[in-house]
Amino acid sequence: MTEEIDWSSLPFGYVPTDYNVRCTFKDGKWGEIEISQSETLNIHIAATALHYGQEIFEGVKAFRGKDGKIRIFRLEENARRIHSSAEGIMMEPVPEDLFCKMCKMAVKLNERFVPPYGSGASLYIRPLEIGMSARVGVAPASEYLFMVLVSPVGPYFKGGFRNTNICIMREYDRVAPKGTGRYKVGGNYAASLRAGHRAHELGYSAVLFLDPKEKKYLDECGPANFYAIKDGKYITPASESILPSITNMSLQQLAKDMGMEVECRHITVDELEHISEAAACGTAAVCSPIGEIDDLDTGRKYVIAKDGKPGPVTTALYNKLNAIRLGEEPDTHGWNTILD
Ligand code: PLP
Ligand code: COI
Repeated sequence: MTEEIDWSSLPFGYVPTDYNVRCTFKDGKWGEIEISQSETLNIHIAATALHYGQEIFEGVKAFRGKDGKIRIFRLEENARRIHSSAEGIMMEPVPEDLFCKMCKMAVKLNERFVPPYGSGASLYIRPLEIGMSARVGVAPASEYLFMVLVSPVGPYFKGGFRNTNICIMREYDRVAPKGTGRYKVGGNYAASLRAGHRAHELGYSAVLFLDPKEKKYLDECGPANFYAIKDGKYITPASESILPSITNMSLQQLAKDMGMEVECRHITVDELEHISEAAACGTAAVCSPIGEIDDLDTGRKYVIAKDGKPGPVTTALYNKLNAIRLGEEPDTHGWNTILD
């Protein structure tokens, strides 16, 4: 029962909801959308998803606005990105209109789980696609299952909008230089687990991964992109091995709207010495301000937030982004899909 959910203290986790939606690609075409109440699925023991990692996913959020309406943030961008992920690992791309339709259906069917306005929580939408065909030789499947499940969630990093500390470690890479980093494939997350676990053991929220080729430039921050504020500019890594974050793209636009310059370029580790703010940004992370970045290999500690508080630019960006998503301010860029 949703009456039992304490919306304002929800963690970022799985909460069972009423329905998920599914669609199968078989015999060269997508079938009918199925509404399911089951939390499990039946899968062939030799499916490519299980053996050869044919799995891609997305992360999207829906919000209950000030006017009571439900808004999904930048859904079409996620539809485009999962298309690119599918091509990246030779899976059948989900048509963008089918993707959007199924996400909207999943939200609508689970409407009672969309957290109330003012709670700070949202409904996390998790679309995923898996290869279903049995293969023993390494080859792509010909049958695929696309599903959308949802879960109400709170902040990704503990404590919500407050400074969090991260670390640099060169012992592990999450992706290869010309690998799958720019796609949202499950295998990237498996590859990041050990580093993430080590960081948590040491008291950090996430690892700031470096570029896997030279270990010289900043790449991304666990399950989020990275940006910094330097000399009043919004700077963020240009890299082939990071996920093109829709949140980062949105924050860049908002920074420009605020009159800031935006630079998407290589950022060296040494440059951390000269930044005034830093944050991890993503659907789950929103924009989480970073207090300190510790380089575990060199022993250098970059204290970003000297007063311990989130910086003014990150605070302004965070507030602006939320105001748009909650319908408190005009959606001038047309980012929200409002559900009927
Ligand atoms: N980078 C990684 C590795 C992620 O998992 C995510 C989360 O989706 C992001 C960046 C942020 O992307 P987005 O803002 O589109 O959620
Ligand atoms: C998201 O922000 O949507 C993500 O996918 C991060 C997730 C892996 C927790």
